[in-house]
Amino acid sequence: MRIVCCYFSGTGNTKLACGELLKKLEEMGHSAVLFPIRKDAERPNLSDCDCLIIGYPVHGFNAPAPVLKFLKSLDKAQKKTPCYLVRTSGEPLKLNNASGISPKRILKKKGYVVYGEFHYVLPYNIIFRHSDGMAARMKLGMELRIPIDAEKIAHMQQFRVKNGPIRRFVSFACRIEHVAMPAIGKHYKVTEKCIGCGKCESVCPQKNIHLCDGKPTFGKSCVGCMGCAFSCPEDAIRPALFNGWKVNGAYSFDAPPATDDEVCNYCRRAYLRYFHEGEK
Ligand SMILES: Cc1cc2nc3c(=O)[nH]c(=O)nc-3n(C[C@H](O)[C@H](O)[C@H](O)COP(=O)(O)O)c2cc1C
Ligand code: SF4
Ligand code: SF4
Repeated sequence: MRIVCCYFSGTGNTKLACGELLKKLEEMGHSAVLFPIRKDAERPNLSDCDCLIIGYPVHGFNAPAPVLKFLKSLDKAQKKTPCYLVRTSGEPLKLNNASGISPKRILKKKGYVVYGEFHYVLPYNIIFRHSDGMAARMKLGMELRIPIDAEKIAHMQQFRVKNGPIRRFVSFACRIEHVAMPAIGKHYKVTEKCIGCGKCESVCPQKNIHLCDGKPTFGKSCVGCMGCAFSCPEDAIRPALFNGWKVNGAYSFDAPPATDDEVCNYCRRAYLRYFHEGEK
């Protein structure tokens, strides 16, 4: 089976999840290719694809705008091609499932049949920084799920994720983020700590950052992925309204995984339920 996975990732979590899932599918004998959804990226050839995977991080209970734009730009599938969604989020809340509503609607119009949706909880790239122990426990949770999820894909299993009216409403209301982010992103600033290394410019999936006289300038196509602020080696980016919620610097996934007692207090019950489900 030829599997194509197109993913959007601001700070690497979704890239990690899609990469691990595809590695497992390759070990099972399938051909699997990864394509980032970025303004400067090559577009995939989907003509001989037997299964399409779309990976994205949850942004305000929705898929990020570039993912929806990418899906809208797809040619109509010649046959009813199976498709799976793979999402990552910082919280294990079921409300995050609402983020699949728009991608599923667009994919259906394009002739793809969404067979199922996978969800991995990975550390926050905004709001607050999880401990490295929490990050390691989340990665473990993902690693325990991936062989099972890869089997489901290999056997083309179909399972529906239902979204009721509350989730539909929340997802619709939060879609305002797609309009607000380009306006907020214009006001990102850099402090005097900036050394002009250009990392933010190369990381930005929207090609929204350009170095001018060695200093980054921000354009009008920010989608708030936090890639720039997260990966700046000098923590020099002030992402406007989100400055108080900024997370800077990669997580170490090599720390000892947090024990149940060490699981963070925020959404503690939901995290424990997610971890225990995976471990079972
Ligand atoms: C603008 C923005 C909005 C987010 N909204 C949510 C959300 O609604 N629910 C959630 O659980 N996580 C949310 N997150 C956290 C990310 O979904 C999570 O950290 C994800 O794994 C990041 O993936 P990436 O590294 O591939 O970009 C949000 C992150 C950003 C930057
Ligand atoms: S990554 Fe940070 S230090 Fe490097 S150019 Fe961008 S803002 Fe400056
Ligand atoms: S400017 Fe920063 S937050 Fe906005 S899209 Fe680019 S990397 Fe993401």
